[in-house]
Amino acid sequence: MNSRRPRRPRAPWTLRRRLVLAVVGLLALVSVSIGLVSVAILRASLLDGLDQQLSAAADRSRAVLEGHRDLDDGAPALFLPTAEMILNGPAQPPGTLALVFDGTSISSGYTTVSGDIAALSTHQKEILARQMQPSRAVSIDLGGTVGDYRIMADVNRDGVLYLVGLPLAEVNGTAAQLAIIVGVVSLAGIVVVAVLALWIVRLALRPLQRVTETAARVAELPLDRGEVSLIDRVPAADTDQRTEVGRVGSALNRMLDHVDVALETRQASERKVRQFVADASHELRTPLASIRGYSELTRRTGQDLPPDTLHSLGRIESESIRMTGLVEDLLLLARLDEGRDLERGPVDLTSLLVDVVSDAHAAGPERVLGLDLPDEPVHVVGDAARLHQVFANLLANARIHTPPETTTEVALSVLGDRAVVTVTDDGPGIPENLQATLFERFARGDSSRFRGTGSTGLGLAIARAVVTAHHGDLTVDSHPGRTCFRVSLPLG
Ligand SMILES: Nc1ncnc2c1ncn2[C@@H]1O[C@H](COP(=O)(O)OP(=O)(O)OP(=O)(O)O)[C@@H](O)[C@H]1O
Ligand SMILES: [Mg+2]
Repeated sequence: MNSRRPRRPRAPWTLRRRLVLAVVGLLALVSVSIGLVSVAILRASLLDGLDQQLSAAADRSRAVLEGHRDLDDGAPALFLPTAEMILNGPAQPPGTLALVFDGTSISSGYTTVSGDIAALSTHQKEILARQMQPSRAVSIDLGGTVGDYRIMADVNRDGVLYLVGLPLAEVNGTAAQLAIIVGVVSLAGIVVVAVLALWIVRLALRPLQRVTETAARVAELPLDRGEVSLIDRVPAADTDQRTEVGRVGSALNRMLDHVDVALETRQASERKVRQFVADASHELRTPLASIRGYSELTRRTGQDLPPDTLHSLGRIESESIRMTGLVEDLLLLARLDEGRDLERGPVDLTSLLVDVVSDAHAAGPERVLGLDLPDEPVHVVGDAARLHQVFANLLANARIHTPPETTTEVALSVLGDRAVVTVTDDGPGIPENLQATLFERFARGDSSRFRGTGSTGLGLAIARAVVTAHHGDLTVDSHPGRTCFRVSLPLG
């Protein structure tokens, strides 16, 4: 089994961090380059100076060796040139190193700071012996306490090979000192620049922050429903076309203008549709009442009419009653959408529920119906008739859309500052595919149509609209064996 946890994707770097790091990185690169170049130039120039001293020392050494030979009567066979002759010669600075090879033996040594002559180790001599060809000055590491040397080998007119060297310690020390100074100054510079860059970038990105905040505020508005207008805009200072952020800000403002116009148009067309539905429903009421009235009148008075005609008249009457209900529902919905047609007064939910339940009991006396009320009366502020309609619909649903043996329980409780009414039944539940659209207009289960209960699918849409207009919530939790509608309303 693979027990490794999946790696979380790394959070992307913010623009601020990227800019600051880029500035700091570039500065570090430039500082290192400048440091390296200046140290290299300084070292080359110091080496140049040292090489001149070295060639002067070599000239002196040659003169010393030849001077000694001339003192020895000019008999080259008997004359033994040594390194000490060079080291004891005039004007040789402390640290001078010398090695002399007369064809048979090697002598070597170097002067210490105190002016004494110290011997070289065998290994050091071996290293130097490898350089014993006349050549230009070279740098060499002799290790131990002797360290780095600049050396130059030459041969005098008697064929004696000699080598002189001067310590590189001073050149190296000066170069190292410069490297340290450049390093420290660069580091301090980088820290200062990082702080300044952080501050400047933050300042530069502040307008972007304001644009983002505006966009975020607008994004939170519920644009899909109701009357909303977009008054939020990016401040004028952040919409200057000459800056990048300004262009973003002004583009956002233009987009908001467009969205605002589109919203206006949508709201206007919605208003028109609502007005049309309200007007149509209103206009339909009168002819419907006439149809109902005339059919009822004819049915009552025309006793000698054939039974078929009487039956048809009865159907006309019942359908016109159903249609009146439908038209009333549509009118109510249109008015609720407009945000009007709600009375506001104290409503005693306890007695309202008692009424609703006794009505429901009268409508279906064979049904088991329970009511659970708190000891104290519960009051809300709102429209008693509309709230009555909400609960009546919930109980009618529990009666119409469930088999006869189903039991229904109505309960009222107080939760914090809210009154909560639940209507629960142990029926077959609301079909899964209907639940998502249950509170939409004309949403019905198939069974309702088959049963010809006269259901329209507007009941729950109205219930939710009424409850929402009361600043409450209507929710449902349904599965086979339990359906619970929950209405929560702010306490009065
Ligand atoms: N308690 C319930 N048990 C099972 N199904 C339900 C229940 N309540 C509602 N439904 C389903 O939800 C649908 C929508 O209910 P809604 O009250 O909106 O409309 P309706 O009852 O069909 O018609 P109307 O209430 O307008 O006369 C119903 O058709 C029914 O299929
Ligand atoms: Mg209903």
